[in-house]
Amino acid sequence: MAPFKLNTKYLESYIAPHEMEAVKAQAELAAKTLEERTGAGNDFLGWLDLPVNYDKDEFARIKAAAKKIQSNSDILIVIGIGGSYLGARAAIELMKSPLYNNLKKDTPDIYYVGNNISPTYLNEILSICEGKDLSVNVISKSGTTTEPALAFRVFRDLVEKKYGKDGAKERIFATTDKARGTLKELSDKEGYETFVIADDVGGRYSVLTAVGLLPIAVSGCDIDAVMAGAAQAREELKAGFDNNDCYKYAAIRNILYRKGKSIEILEAYDPSFAMMAEWFKQLFGESEGKDNRGIYPSSCIFSTDLHSMGQFIQDGSRVMFETVVDIKKPKQDFFLEDDAQNLDGLNFLTNQNMSVVNRCAFEGTILAHTEGGVPNIVLELEDTTEKSFGYMVYFFEKACAVSGYMLGINPFNQPGVESYKKNMFALLGKPGYEDQRSALEAKLGR
Ligand code: PA5
Repeated sequence: MAPFKLNTKYLESYIAPHEMEAVKAQAELAAKTLEERTGAGNDFLGWLDLPVNYDKDEFARIKAAAKKIQSNSDILIVIGIGGSYLGARAAIELMKSPLYNNLKKDTPDIYYVGNNISPTYLNEILSICEGKDLSVNVISKSGTTTEPALAFRVFRDLVEKKYGKDGAKERIFATTDKARGTLKELSDKEGYETFVIADDVGGRYSVLTAVGLLPIAVSGCDIDAVMAGAAQAREELKAGFDNNDCYKYAAIRNILYRKGKSIEILEAYDPSFAMMAEWFKQLFGESEGKDNRGIYPSSCIFSTDLHSMGQFIQDGSRVMFETVVDIKKPKQDFFLEDDAQNLDGLNFLTNQNMSVVNRCAFEGTILAHTEGGVPNIVLELEDTTEKSFGYMVYFFEKACAVSGYMLGINPFNQPGVESYKKNMFALLGKPGYEDQRSALEAKLGR
């Protein structure tokens, strides 16, 4: 049984059967283009077969490195940005806990740096590391991205000062291109253990490579089960449109987009899903948002955000649709006891599990929002086990690719990301950017 399934029950008043029929051929063509590798960006399709076609020797090295880190470190510092950190963090928070670092556990705490340029954040993580044993996993496909490169300078220095050059070799792990880039060169020179991000796997599609798998394994998750879930999805999601929830989800998104619903809010009723939604936003945002097109991906965690964005969703501009990930089986439940005095009047909620209250919040909200003019897609996630996580990752990756092809864009490039970098480098005086610098400073009124 698929652990991640589409439920279209709440879409009935928004999408008629004939509309699905009309778009079916387009979805099938997009899927065929993907499977036959004939579309734009087809040199970045390594992720399609990753769940079965991965380097088994490297996989064994990932597990060994994770064991080593678990045995000699209190803290693992994960350095990376965008696709080079979001998947790992999403996985760890979903499968372990958003409070992972606060749990009583026998695995290292994990902190993520190099995903911003805040000096405050960096200083705080450095002070957390004081007096602790640490290892570092620096992740950058290009090996040249400014944010992680800057953070790596700081943590390499810290590890070398603490453990010496030889000790550092035992504690620094680099995940990068197999041959190119500054990080690869430096790792080879210093003798760090390296893991490979294949040429044909883009950053946001790389969670099932060493990029995601090493930190995920350090957190104590079973990475064999993650890959097994993804392999199940790879097999099942090859089916024809009528039996393929992934293609249907891509098709529904496109129907809604054509009806003016240009914002998708990914939602779940558990805070452990918050980083998963960040991963989703990067996957779909960077893949689809180009050529002045695309659905803007956003997210909410309910019931928390019903007290912030709930008003807008119920009543504001009708520009969005919701995709609710309905986690069927929470990791834990909590029995709500009766209170003899009932001074707070909450006894109507008691003598049952808290998950029942959460489910009523979900059902009440979806009815209210649907009646308020917001189409709701439901994706049912059986549980938050490794297998289900792996399945869901592959589902979203494939849906994103199919959806992007339906939209007529290349889902595998990200030309827009370069613009801010050029400006930043020019303003910082990076050699080679001198001409742009004066023009930008004039615009800033300097
Ligand atoms: O999805 C992508 O390609 C990007 O988000 C990259 O992952 C991100 O820019 C980091 O790049 P790199 O791994 O080269 O440092």
